Amino acid sequence: MLFRELNRGKCKTYLIACEETRSAALVDPLRERIDRYLAVLAYYGLKLSAVIDTHTHADHRTASFDLRELVGASAVMHRRAPAPHIDRHVDDGDEVAVGSLAVRVLYTPGHTPDGISLLVGDRLLSGDTLLIRGTGRSDFAGGDAGAQYDAITGKLFRLPDATRVFPAHDYRGNTSSTIGDEKRLNPRLAGRSREAYIELMNNLGLPLPDKIQEVLQPNQTALDDDVLRFPTLAEMNQVRQRSAPEVDAALRAPSPPLILDVREAEEFDGELGHIPGAVPVPLKELPARAGELEVHRDRTIIVVCRAGVRSATGAAILTGLGFEHVANLKGGMVDWNDQRLAVERSSHRDG
Ligand SMILES: [Fe+2]
Repeated sequence: MLFRELNRGKCKTYLIACEETRSAALVDPLRERIDRYLAVLAYYGLKLSAVIDTHTHADHRTASFDLRELVGASAVMHRRAPAPHIDRHVDDGDEVAVGSLAVRVLYTPGHTPDGISLLVGDRLLSGDTLLIRGTGRSDFAGGDAGAQYDAITGKLFRLPDATRVFPAHDYRGNTSSTIGDEKRLNPRLAGRSREAYIELMNNLGLPLPDKIQEVLQPNQTALDDDVLRFPTLAEMNQVRQRSAPEVDAALRAPSPPLILDVREAEEFDGELGHIPGAVPVPLKELPARAGELEVHRDRTIIVVCRAGVRSATGAAILTGLGFEHVANLKGGMVDWNDQRLAVERSSHRDG
């Protein structure tokens, strides 16, 4: 196996390659470094088969969408990842083949709801779940310190002590650690109970990263801000959230809401299906097509997407356009399907 960290900075991108087949994967590639990655791949004579993001990043734009377009690599993320154009959604226990190498997926949420760690041989790529002598913050939208503690102590710390740990970030110049060292020496975790960990993580008082919405929303939507004016964090925080059972109940009530599905066409008719009666308007077309919704201005509009994140952007955009009765389906079609609520799939779909 060829294994390299390619950025030599605080933000880590790993190259994993099978020397037999020359097949390669990039984990957490940065958009501004695409030229470097393509040069390294060419230098080693590797074919990029997969680009894997360990989670939806808030501090840098991902290169996955561009690399997918440029060289046809398949984009891999956890099933709760909000973005469109992900070729393969993975879950705990799945394997991603890179030539003859098997990359095992561990679901490790907490920093974000879509966090995964990757195990290849004796190396663990721990994303922003477990850092060297630290852990990824859990105070962004969708973060969960308790889930993070459970993922680290229940999954990562059960790996052999000699497992080498390669995080997605390091701010102190470290390159790797081991599970054994982190169990003994990680100051956030060693000897700390779940309750104490949650207390600690909920009171870190860290400022939000600069331009978080300008980074997050393009990563969540695979759109640029020249396509869409993204709502501000304050506008996003005002979006009303409705759970899948609440929306299901509202649909059975006397004046049901309009379901506005902002996913791409292939997702609307894809594996998760859509809510019966949903009106499809992809997020990138929403500002231009909002006029079509004028007739529904007095009705409640529930905005829906895959994971409930792009739809929150959609809901904030509609609110900004003066629609007053707008809410977001929390957890999106992933939760809707997990709750086994009614779904319609297009009949002409294969498989
Ligand atoms: Fe992160």
